[in-house]
Amino acid sequence: MLTHLGDMPVATFIRDYWQKRPLLIRQCFPGFECPFDENDLAGLALEEAVESRIIYEKRQGKPWQLERGPFRDKKLRKLPEVGWTLLIQGLDQWLPEMSDLLDQFRFLPGWRLDDIMASFAPPGGSVGPHYDHYDVFLIQALGRRRWQVGPVCDEQSPRVNGTPLRILDGFPVEQEWELEPGDVLYLPPAVAHHGVALENGITLSVGFRSPTQAELLSSFADYWIPQIDSPAFDRDYADLGRHTGRIPPEIVDDFKKSLTRLLERPNEMHSWMGRFLSHPKTDAVVEAPLEDSLPDDAELIEALREAPIRARWNDGSRYLYQCYEMPSKQTVVELFVDGQGFVLPADAQTFVEQLCHSNTVPEGLLSEAVKRPDLADVIVKLIRSGSLRVEHCDENDTGHI
Ligand code: SIN
Ligand code: CO
Repeated sequence: MLTHLGDMPVATFIRDYWQKRPLLIRQCFPGFECPFDENDLAGLALEEAVESRIIYEKRQGKPWQLERGPFRDKKLRKLPEVGWTLLIQGLDQWLPEMSDLLDQFRFLPGWRLDDIMASFAPPGGSVGPHYDHYDVFLIQALGRRRWQVGPVCDEQSPRVNGTPLRILDGFPVEQEWELEPGDVLYLPPAVAHHGVALENGITLSVGFRSPTQAELLSSFADYWIPQIDSPAFDRDYADLGRHTGRIPPEIVDDFKKSLTRLLERPNEMHSWMGRFLSHPKTDAVVEAPLEDSLPDDAELIEALREAPIRARWNDGSRYLYQCYEMPSKQTVVELFVDGQGFVLPADAQTFVEQLCHSNTVPEGLLSEAVKRPDLADVIVKLIRSGSLRVEHCDENDTGHI
């Protein structure tokens, strides 16, 4: 994980720039070499499971048009010389190098990290002047790109008509930079920006998310509905009210009481939110390994205990945790991985913290942890569900367990 952005310690960045003002970091990744090129991106754009888009500066006489993938090979080969950008979302889920790059940004809260998006544009290409609702780090990966940055915008800022995209109708340029591979530009939410490729180039955007209240409410309801026969919700309203046509106020009061009872179960709230926030961006990425590719539980635990093990999260996985008090007043730590929750005693916190710290699991962590049956059980479940990948790393016996 990055400790400095250029010369600046991350603590200074968080205090002075994060969510406040743009920052250009020259050679944040010195000597950065993009591990893929536009042909690799085009290959991903053919895939059903990969979220891809092309933005055209002008198409059929209309400004800033959007086309969503997957695309056919023929279409990608026939793209015009200039005037378009190919965007691939969630690159970290498909390329381990990108998942490692995303991991560098875990000095920021893990639950806010979303993904790495790649954009490829020929010279002059851009996605148009715009602003985003979330923070973004723009990493120049290949070629040079000129970025112009302007003021904070909002819904009232003038927009281009005739496009489904939110393109600004220009903005007063306050700062302008030419970025080279390894340079990074940080932008807080709502700041106007416009990046134009000066040559064939790839930019990587580290994107953030922050769930809206509406998303939280909808997920909360989804979590509870299957459990509707729980004691908190065992009322039906058939016997309430005597007057045809009048909705008896007791119904509202009664429903409010049921909801209040639910909200007063703090452990359930923690469990639901952790599951929600740890849900993978793309479900299909977290795939369980084939049943017969793994030994039985006892052998698996033995193998983890005996041999040096290299382990990393599935590139599409999200690992988070929470500590909270149960109704019994016992404090627990709950590990959340890809929408699953594992409640553990408070003394498992150090293990959970280390497991959630980085996509590369520290050496020795698993072999030590499997000595405890409760942790061994969690580790085996994570391996079986495909959220954790382990392999032997001694010389004679490389390969998956
Ligand atoms: C791009 O990479 O072209 C656009 C990224 C952004 O503006 O957020
Ligand atoms: Co943007």
